[in-house]
This record gives sequence, C-alpha cells and structure tokens, in this order.
Amino acid sequence: MSKLLVTGGNFLEGTIAVSGAKNAVLPIIAASLLSGEPIRLDDAPDLLDVKVMSEVIKSLGASVERDGSQLKICATNIDNIEAPYDLVSQMRASIVIMGPLLARLGRVRISHPGGCAIGSRPINWHLKGLEALGAEIHMDHGFLDVKAKNLRGTRIYLDFPSVGATENIMMAAARAQGTTVIENAAQEPEIVDLANFINQMGGKIRGAGTSVIHIEGVREFHGTVHTVIPDRIEAGSYLLMAAATGGDVLVQNVISDHLKPVLAKMEEAGIEFNEEDEGIRIRGNGNYQAVDIKTQVHPGFPTDLQAPFLALLTKSNGTAVVTETVFENRFMHVDELKRMGADVKIEGRSAIVQGTSCLYAAPVTATDLRAGAALILAALTAEGTTEIRGIHHIERGYERIQEKISRIGGKIERVD
Ligand code: UD1
Repeated sequence: MSKLLVTGGNFLEGTIAVSGAKNAVLPIIAASLLSGEPIRLDDAPDLLDVKVMSEVIKSLGASVERDGSQLKICATNIDNIEAPYDLVSQMRASIVIMGPLLARLGRVRISHPGGCAIGSRPINWHLKGLEALGAEIHMDHGFLDVKAKNLRGTRIYLDFPSVGATENIMMAAARAQGTTVIENAAQEPEIVDLANFINQMGGKIRGAGTSVIHIEGVREFHGTVHTVIPDRIEAGSYLLMAAATGGDVLVQNVISDHLKPVLAKMEEAGIEFNEEDEGIRIRGNGNYQAVDIKTQVHPGFPTDLQAPFLALLTKSNGTAVVTETVFENRFMHVDELKRMGADVKIEGRSAIVQGTSCLYAAPVTATDLRAGAALILAALTAEGTTEIRGIHHIERGYERIQEKISRIGGKIERVD
C-alpha cells in the first residue's frame, strides 16, 4: 500500500505552478465526443481522473494520446454506446459523457454511479434535463439506458445549480434542434471553460458564467485547440498550505477572480498575500484568526476548499464555525484531523473548530481528494512525521503533488 510520509515544521518557500483544472478538463474531454475532428487540449493535467475519462472515451471508439501536458483526442469513429462499469465505478464524473454521447449517437448506456464518500450524490437533475430535451430513460440491471431519436431545445429550470447537470444538459443541447435555455444554471468557472471549448468547436452558447445559459443547437462541430483554465482548487490548496507553514510562496498560473471568496476569507483570517503579475504571493506568519466559513455554489466559498481551510483553522486563534451546504457528508477529514490533536466537533452540517497551538503526527487516511489535501496541510504544520494512507484519492486530483511540495521545501516522501 502506498503512503505519503510528511514531516512538519518546515516553512514553504519558493515558486509553485498550478496545473490545468481537473474539473474543467473532465467535461471537456467528454465534449470532444461532439466532434469527429482532431482536438488538442493544452495544460491537460496528468491525473488519475483524467486517465479514467480518457479510457472511458477510448472504450467508445475515440483515440486519446498524451504528449507532455497536451492531450490529442480524435472521436471520428464512435461506435460503442456503452461505458464500461469498471471505469464508471472508479469515477463518478464519467456521467458527463451522457450528454455528448446522446447528442452524437442518440443512445447511451452507463452504469448508475451510485453514492460516494461525500454523500449519496444523486443524478436526478441530469436525467430530468435530458428528459426535457426529449430523451427516454430506463433503468436496466444497474445501467441507465438513455435514448433520443431527436433532441429538441427547450427551457429547463434546475432546482439547484448543479455543476454536472448544467454540463450534461449544455453538451446535449449543443447538438439539439432549436434553442435551450437553462435557468438557475451553475456559474462555476469550469462551466465557462466548457462553453468556450464547445463554441470553439462551432457551438453557439451564450451566458455561461451567469445563471441563465442560452444554447442554440448546431449539427456540425469541427476540431480545435484549447487551453484548459488553471485549477482554482489546486491553487487555493497551495496558498493555504503556504500560509499554514508561515511560508513565502509565489503560486503561479492562477486566475485571482476565480478565488475571490477564498482570498476574502484568507484576508479576514489575517493571512498576508499580494496579487502579482505572475500569480499570488503568500507571506505567511502562521498566526491567524478564526473565521467562519459557509460553502456555497459559485461565486460563494467552494466546497472543494472547505477541508483544507478547516485544517488551517485547527491552529488559528479562537473558535470557527465551518458550515457545509453543498454536500451532505463532507466532514470525513475531521475524524482524521482529530487523531492529530485537532479540536473539532460536528453539529449537523457544521464543524465547530477550536484552535489549538499544536498538532502532532499520527497515521491518518485520506477519504477523498480534498480531505487528502487537508491532511497534507495539517501534517506540514504538525510535530513529527505523519503517515497518510489512501493517497490514490490525492493523486486523482493533484498533479505531482509530492514533487511540487518538495521543491518549495516541504518534507514529503511517497513510499510504496
Ligand atoms: C462538481 C465537482 C466537485 C465539486 C462540485 C460542487 C467535478 C468533476 N466535480 O461535482 O469537485 O465539489 O461540483 O462545486 O466537476 N445533486 C443532486 N442531484 C443531481 C445533481 C447533484 O441532488 O442530479 C446534489 C449533489 O448530491 C450535491 C449537490 O447537488 O449535494 C451539488 O452537486 P453538483 O453541483 O452536481 O456537483 P458535481 O457536478 O457532482
């Protein structure tokens, strides 16, 4: 079993570069299925999840080749409508192939993704949206069989601005007959990147990044070259790690606008940083005030940075209340942090974090990828060497994390 050994006590110092966004590249790889011409994606992070998504579209007949940070995709010969259970069960995000595959071939069979560590995560809004566009959906021995002779544009109101549902509907509607309007759509930067990519292929999407998206269906999509946006969650994780160790780190390849709610909370906590031409520089002192956090959909505080921020708060001055409103069970990292001496109580959907002066090393397990980042952050500030298991979760979403943190002075080693 592979583990990370992280020894606390070093200041992080230097420059760290953020990779392309995992949550942007995954739906973009799926959207490549809309076109039969060659696609090149630049800044495509080399992550476990990206490998799984690449395998999923390869299993459908597409070709995918990696060349450094580029992915070359060609989906000319798509002849399979069924995504293999083995792959889909590894990564819930593979459900975003439903929209583009349905649009391209008129049918898709995919295993129902079921639950995961951070909640039951239903896909009812994805299905409701596809049904509104004219799809017929049947459940068949654990598989969803989705068929549509003709997708037709319509008006869809989402009960909640789900990121995945907005993406699936946007991709199906891009090739439907007529115009689709998604109301109460997700506004995350990854939605904007996906819309830009589809438009570069010939799509006609307006309003991505606002709560109302207009999609005029087109039949022909051509090839394109697209650069994936930087990963705001990876950037936020490194900013918080640098701050927690009292380090001086320039985090490069960041779009500050994507991190506004996080930077606002960092400022409130007393973390010093400068927005520079090349990125964001943290000048930490390791001594911060407790701040309350409530996760919300974009442009609110991102749920994916709740765990790392909570880990930083375990050593702040005072009591902080961290409320999770997006996912139902996203405090799995709390029990692990408590093993390292953190003082945290869960009350319903909130965690009450009482700052302590010292965390100590302990064997801990990453239960999901952001929980993994939280444990690394805590370990970098703890006394002794922390052993982190479950690192495949971390490798799903953080490219070469061990190498990147080592380069700026963190003591982190992977043992197999
Ligand atoms: C995406 C991100 C994930 C991030 C999340 C919220 C990817 C690959 N993952 O996940 O990192 O944490 O957005 O920013 O981009 N829900 C339903 N029914 C549905 C769909 C969602 O009840 O049909 C619920 C979910 O269980 C969850 C909430 O809505 O409680 C938000 O989910 P959603 O925005 O869809 O997140 P994902 O797209 O799964």
